[in-house]
Amino acid sequence: MNQKALFIIFGGTGDLAYRKLYPALFNLYEKGYLKEDFAVIGTARRPWSNDHYHEVVMSAIEDAGRDSGRTNDDLPRKFASHFYYQSHNVDDVDHYVALRKLADELDEKYDLQGNRIFYLAMAPRFFGTIAGHLKDQALLTKGNGFNRLIIEKPFGRDYPSAKELNDSISGSFKEEQIFRIDHYLGKEPIQSIAGLRFGNALFNSLWNKEHIDNIQITLSESLGVEERAGYYETAGAMRDMVQNHIMQIVSLLTMERPDVFDSEHLRDKKIEALENIQMYTKEEAKKYFIRGQYGADEANTQLGYRDEEGTDNQSTVETFVAGKLITHNPSLDGVPVYIRTGKRLTKKSTQINIVFKNDDQNIFAKDASEKLKTNVLTMHIEPDQGFTLEFNTKTGNQGYNLSPVHLRYRKTATEKAQIPDAYEGLIRDALMGNKTNFAHWHEVSQAWKIMDVVREAWDEEEPAFPNYASGSMGPEAAMQLLADDGRKWVFNPRS
Ligand SMILES: NC(=O)c1ccc[n+]([C@@H]2O[C@H](COP(=O)([O-])OP(=O)(O)OC[C@H]3O[C@@H](n4cnc5c(N)ncnc54)[C@H](OP(=O)(O)O)[C@@H]3O)[C@@H](O)[C@H]2O)c1
Repeated sequence: MNQKALFIIFGGTGDLAYRKLYPALFNLYEKGYLKEDFAVIGTARRPWSNDHYHEVVMSAIEDAGRDSGRTNDDLPRKFASHFYYQSHNVDDVDHYVALRKLADELDEKYDLQGNRIFYLAMAPRFFGTIAGHLKDQALLTKGNGFNRLIIEKPFGRDYPSAKELNDSISGSFKEEQIFRIDHYLGKEPIQSIAGLRFGNALFNSLWNKEHIDNIQITLSESLGVEERAGYYETAGAMRDMVQNHIMQIVSLLTMERPDVFDSEHLRDKKIEALENIQMYTKEEAKKYFIRGQYGADEANTQLGYRDEEGTDNQSTVETFVAGKLITHNPSLDGVPVYIRTGKRLTKKSTQINIVFKNDDQNIFAKDASEKLKTNVLTMHIEPDQGFTLEFNTKTGNQGYNLSPVHLRYRKTATEKAQIPDAYEGLIRDALMGNKTNFAHWHEVSQAWKIMDVVREAWDEEEPAFPNYASGSMGPEAAMQLLADDGRKWVFNPRS
């Protein structure tokens, strides 16, 4: 089903628009979600012509590798002809008057029925100004058309700044009109968590405190800060990865089953799940959260974070976080969720490990203390996508010995190539008004409140950085965090 709409992209000359938005919109056009009744206004300060803008859009499609194997070579040009460039400084009120005029003209030309999507592909400090002027200068349509606002992280640096940001847009857009992108929610393996849990009696019946011992979430990167040092110095791993992506994954893994699988029911359960994460005192936060920063590798071939271009040589920014969260959602009450993310770790992998309890009686044991090997369900998010289930089976002919085996399912390269890019799926959802894969304000705010305690606790002490070598799996304390509970990380690759 296609949907008519006018997209107004603020930051139309920027990196996000070029690398993600134009290719994603093109894919939607190619697949028929956008037909001929759509238009895009790109705005930014640069004085581009429409012709130049068309060339940029076509080159973005080509660079994204979307120009090969197509039978209709004219498609990118036809697609680009729907794009209009308007030079615009977001602080200048007069520019909104010109923008409204163009928007109204395009609305009529393409018969868009007042449907508008405002995409703010710009730094969040501009959000309030843009939202305010969109309202004051009557760019929000009245009548049956929709007005939707898409915004990108970061949503603040802590709860107070996130609230301020939210307040600055909520005067113009209601919560149901705001689509906050957390691109992890656009990834298919993350979306399939709900399907795995609630679409299988096997897992649904085991997803509780009686059967799950602990949950582990690892987002490990092998690369360092690369060319993002400027941004990273102001953010760090907690703000970059934990408050948003990891907390969203935590909510999907710990929420109770919604009665119906739709955006409202799912949102309510996710909010409840986050509200049921134990709020720590600062002392608890110091005990249960570990931060780290990478140094050089053992052979001294990789620079430490403080020696990377663009970082402060005394930087106290964390490039690693590990922590223990405790859920008090009824089904999983008391189950620990161990989370971990970091740069320059041994291996790139995003994975979730569900570790089941192993206190069943071991009737095969040679001596009474020998426990059954733990069953583990691993969800591979990236680069592999799929599942591994580890369970015990009889092996060998002599005697009755049990050994763990792995039941594996991995998506093939062809299957992975067919999955739409996260942005394509998310823009399609926004176009259709489906909020299932977007972050609600209450999720964002609750995640900040949980993380703010940790940040405040950390800010009381100067960290002894660097504290892990490039190529390792982070500071020793992150291993000890689980060892203290008699557990260990399931994902523990050797360098
Ligand atoms: N890039 C990504 O992959 C990515 C991923 C996730 C989130 N984000 C977030 O998305 C936002 C945009 O990121 P980006 O990487 O695209 O940044 P960027 O490349 O720096 O683009 C910023 C855009 O804002 C425009 N701009 C700046 N000041 C302006 C003003 N006063 N009036 C009008 N336009 C103005 C710039 O164009 P002119 O200079 O021509 O005005 C440019 O088009 C950021 O908040 C970022 O954190 C980006």
